[in-house]
Amino acid sequence: MTEFISPFGPMIMHSKLSDECFNILRANANDSRQEDLDFRQKLSGNIHYEYKINFKTHEHKNLVVDELLLFAKQYVNACREQYRVKRFNEVKAKNLQIIDPIWVNFMRNGEWNPVHFHAGQISCVIYLSIPEEINEENKVDPSVAKSNQPTAGKIQWTYGEAMHFSQTFYTKTPREQDIFLFPADLKHFVYPFKTNTERVSVSCNFIAPNFKIAKTI
Ligand SMILES: [Fe+2]
Repeated sequence: MTEFISPFGPMIMHSKLSDECFNILRANANDSRQEDLDFRQKLSGNIHYEYKINFKTHEHKNLVVDELLLFAKQYVNACREQYRVKRFNEVKAKNLQIIDPIWVNFMRNGEWNPVHFHAGQISCVIYLSIPEEINEENKVDPSVAKSNQPTAGKIQWTYGEAMHFSQTFYTKTPREQDIFLFPADLKHFVYPFKTNTERVSVSCNFIAPNFKIAKTI
C-alpha cells in the first residue's frame, strides 16, 4: 500500500455556509454600513468600508453564531484526529466562543489587506459577494494574466520556509458562500483588483475560555 503523508504545517478547512445562514449574514452585513459601526481602527485592511455587524434580531445572530461554532468545532475535531493537539491542547471544541464582533469588509478596486494575523485561536473568513469580473482579471488583464502568479482579488495564506516538494503559499479564488477556517496566527493577505466593483467578505475569531485575547484583530 502507498500513502501520501502531509504531517507539517497549519490546517485550513474549506466549507460552504448553509443558504439560510448566508442570506441572514448578507442582509445584516448590508444593513451595517453605518458610520457608528466603523471598525477600521481594529483592522489591518487598507479598505474604506469595514463595519462591525449589528444583527437586527437575536434570532439572526444566534443562527449565524451557532452555525459558525459548528464549523469551528468540526475544525478542532479534525485537528485532534490528525494529532495536531499540541497546537490546540487548550481548545476544547465544546467550549469554543466567538469573539465579538463579527465584521464585514466591503473591498473596492485599488484597496487591499496587507499581511496580518488575527486575535484568538481560530479565525474564519466568509465570502458574501465575489463579482465574476474580479476573477476574469486574472485571465484577461494584460498586466495580470501573463504573470506566473495572477492574484487579483485572491486571498493568500503563507507559512514556513521554501524547500523542494513543499508549499509555502496557499492561494484561493474565493466563491460566494465559501467559508475558510484557519489558525488565528496564520499570516494571510488579500490582493487588490482593478474592476470598479465590490468584493464582500465577513470574518470573525474563535477562542476557548481562559485563552488570552490580543488587543487588536
Ligand atoms: Fe484576516
